Amino acid sequence: STDWTDVAAEGDLFEGAAIGVGAEGRDIALYKTEAGEVFATDNICSHGYARLCDGFLEGHEIECPFHQGRFDIRTGEPTLEPCVDAIKSYPVKVEGGRVWLQIQ
Ligand code: FES
Repeated sequence: STDWTDVAAEGDLFEGAAIGVGAEGRDIALYKTEAGEVFATDNICSHGYARLCDGFLEGHEIECPFHQGRFDIRTGEPTLEPCVDAIKSYPVKVEGGRVWLQIQ
């Protein structure tokens, strides 16, 4: 569906960091950049079973904690090997102090 799902409080997010949330049976990473932008992708790396919320966020890239591959958090596209397969990204809005995702 294209409904918006409430997944977190805005106050749960910190600039330059990621958190993991469960929503609609998925493990999703929420990111807040140093510039205050919020993005969401699947939380599990496409290379192995690492949770990206445990990785290192730099600008618009998340570095996987297992083998230091990277993804663009805006699109889910891989930006550094060994990550070669994209992960899903989700539309985000922050409204009413809550973080909402379109999970399809
Ligand atoms: Fe993420 Fe290997 S599990 S780079």
